[in-house]
Amino acid sequence: MRHALGIDIGGSGIKGAIVDLKKGEFSTDRLRIPTPQPATPEAVADVVGQIAKHFSEELGDGPIGITIPAIVQHGITRSAANIDPTWIDAEAEKIFEERLGRDITLVNDADAAGVAEVRWGAAKGHPGLVIVTTLGTGIGSALIHKGELIPNSELGHLEIDGHDAESRAAASAREREGLDFDVWATERLQRYYETVEFLFSPDLLVVGGGVSKKADKFLPLLKLRTEIVPAELRNAAGIVGAAWLAADRLKNPDVLIKK
Ligand code: BGC
Repeated sequence: MRHALGIDIGGSGIKGAIVDLKKGEFSTDRLRIPTPQPATPEAVADVVGQIAKHFSEELGDGPIGITIPAIVQHGITRSAANIDPTWIDAEAEKIFEERLGRDITLVNDADAAGVAEVRWGAAKGHPGLVIVTTLGTGIGSALIHKGELIPNSELGHLEIDGHDAESRAAASAREREGLDFDVWATERLQRYYETVEFLFSPDLLVVGGGVSKKADKFLPLLKLRTEIVPAELRNAAGIVGAAWLAADRLKNPDVLIKK
């Protein structure tokens, strides 16, 4: 199997592309459609349907992987920190499958990005414990040990000093509060990453999300014993990771995960 379709559902846009699974790169242009408002499962499924249709010729009967910024347990979305509350306990995978008339694989957005970084990006081939965090509206996390993803880690919601961590350390908190990069790094990210380091002792921390383009403004200010590096696949990571996870599931079907 050489190609799969990856679709990344975000707060403002839903993006898709065909992914070359050998190279971990797009083999078509990316299509972006604005996220419908309100972004209910049915409304989002319509847009996902349009994207799948657009790529149907290139995809053939190849796999489809979809990301969402929520806990995804056995196809059911279990949280909605920064998305429409109607996703909580929605049979999301089933809703997409009914809309598309075929099987899909639904995964958490940060898990998808993390898998892509470990296969093709900043943590390529890493043999230890890698934690990939994405700093955006929220904080997403992927916990990957010896190449194996432990899904739905949700380390953005660690409670630190009485706060939901992402409410203070996400990129959106920096913007909302007008913090300079150095203040954000030393007063927010330092506390966040030292807590993650203490609790999990990772071998490598990877920082993704749009703000990672400016990593030189904040990562060098952090004092940690763990190596911390910017993500490399940037905004392709979610699409690439989702495509790979969908293909991987076909090779290794998991009766628990696939109902
Ligand atoms: C959500 C996660 C998501 C992250 C990044 C958090 O608020 O709880 O599921 O991965 O944001 O989008």
